[in-house]
Amino acid sequence: MKIIAAEHQGFCYGVKRAVAMAQECIGMEGNIHTLGPIIHNPQVVKRFSDKGIEVVNDLSSVDDESTVIIRSHGVGPDIYAKAQTKKLTVVDATCPHVKKAQQAAYELLQDGFAVVIVGEKHHPEVKSILEWSNNQGIVVETVEEAMQLPLIPKLGVVVQTTFSGEVFQTIVNVLQTKCNEMQIRRTICTATDLRQQSALDIAAKVDVMLVIGGKNSANTSRLAQLCHDAGSRVYHIETAAELRVEDFSGVETVGITAGASTPDWLIEEVYQKMQEFNQLLDNEVIKLEQGSI
Ligand code: F3S
Repeated sequence: MKIIAAEHQGFCYGVKRAVAMAQECIGMEGNIHTLGPIIHNPQVVKRFSDKGIEVVNDLSSVDDESTVIIRSHGVGPDIYAKAQTKKLTVVDATCPHVKKAQQAAYELLQDGFAVVIVGEKHHPEVKSILEWSNNQGIVVETVEEAMQLPLIPKLGVVVQTTFSGEVFQTIVNVLQTKCNEMQIRRTICTATDLRQQSALDIAAKVDVMLVIGGKNSANTSRLAQLCHDAGSRVYHIETAAELRVEDFSGVETVGITAGASTPDWLIEEVYQKMQEFNQLLDNEVIKLEQGSI
């Protein structure tokens, strides 16, 4: 069984930075929290919780003067204000690309544009961008939703950093017919495109694709979906423990990719497991040949 690794996979710049910043907080004095899971990966979240960094969902349950880590998805201006009132130490791990999208929404609003945020409605990053538009932005997730918009004279467009470039362009084409003036801030981050392209490059060549990453990670699920749409047999797994040797019987090539929130150690464990399977399956083939003589 040949194993092919995607050229670009695993932690992106923003996630690596956020995890490193959280790591630096271990052992600091006082209570330390992350506002929401630091990344969409349950295994990483557990490792931090084991070291005393707990997830909270809002600041009301946080003691005054403790430390709060803001994850790469970012938050709205209200959170910074609340943190100041509670005298919290803020470790701001918002990805710089997300900051740009938040700033773009804020500036477009100040410049008199109606802000359209192209992205997934329930994604925390989109929620944070919406808050920077003073909750006045309109979130558009699909081409159909864009088509339903009324005519808006001045339209400013921001996009979720991890959104599909292709779908975004189709939505922009529709939005262009809905306004007299439009400003577009192309805030999609290349990390997502690179991971998607690398996954597709190998998905076409292999019998099975393994996509490693949190089931709650939007970017990992999208990688799995894209490989599936490309015709691959896909297993979306969080850890090597989910792999079953019988699923690889007769398989000649396996592609491996991982979402932007998947740490190297989880990817490494999958490689090791696949090596073990390789040996087991080789043994099985030999046994059958001997049996048939
Ligand atoms: Fe940032 Fe792009 Fe990662 S926006 S968090 S580097 S996917």
